[in-house]
Amino acid sequence: MAEPLRALYPGSFDPPTLGHIDLITRGVALFGPLLVAIANNNTKTSLFSIEERIDFIRAEVGNLPVKVDYFRGLVVEHARELQIPVILRGVRTISDFEYEYQMAMTNRALEPNIETSFVMPSEQYSYLSSRLIKEVYAAGGELRRFLPDPVHHALIQKLQNKE
Ligand SMILES: Nc1ncnc2c1ncn2[C@@H]1O[C@H](COP(=O)(O)OP(=O)(O)OP(=O)(O)O)[C@@H](O)[C@H]1O
Ligand SMILES: [Mg+2]
Repeated sequence: MAEPLRALYPGSFDPPTLGHIDLITRGVALFGPLLVAIANNNTKTSLFSIEERIDFIRAEVGNLPVKVDYFRGLVVEHARELQIPVILRGVRTISDFEYEYQMAMTNRALEPNIETSFVMPSEQYSYLSSRLIKEVYAAGGELRRFLPDPVHHALIQKLQNKE
């Protein structure tokens, strides 16, 4: 990718949902080349490895100007190192907003030159979260219309391996 990255979209993406993909598409349309940065914090136990999550996202973005990597520590550090001026976040509900607002203000205090920008997903994904997806699958439910096919298959596989 020759063009510089214009926005960094951080998250855990465990697993990526079509809500995440929707946001990536909107982020590219708004800002141009985008970096999806997977937070690798050891305190949170994840269902999928970083490599699996990177592969899931890469498989969905097709020809869009999107890079995927991971980082430890502060997101503003990662953005500063790569000279990316915008952090992209999604807001689903008012309850998302409060935490996102605190985080955006904290990041601004840490690094005043980086702006956080919020984007709303398509209505059909406006209540979708990775945590709920994992809960539904663990309880034997299935929400494949909200997931990339490889993610849906991998979730089914994980559950079968557990049995
Ligand atoms: N369906 C969605 N619509 C809009 N934004 C979303 C959606 N899912 C996640 N996001 C946003 O993407 C960013 C990264 O989210 P994250 O990886 O924490 O996903 P999540 O679905 O919130 O996962 P978890 O349930 O584990 O917190 C956050 O800004 C989050 O608000
Ligand atoms: Mg979340």
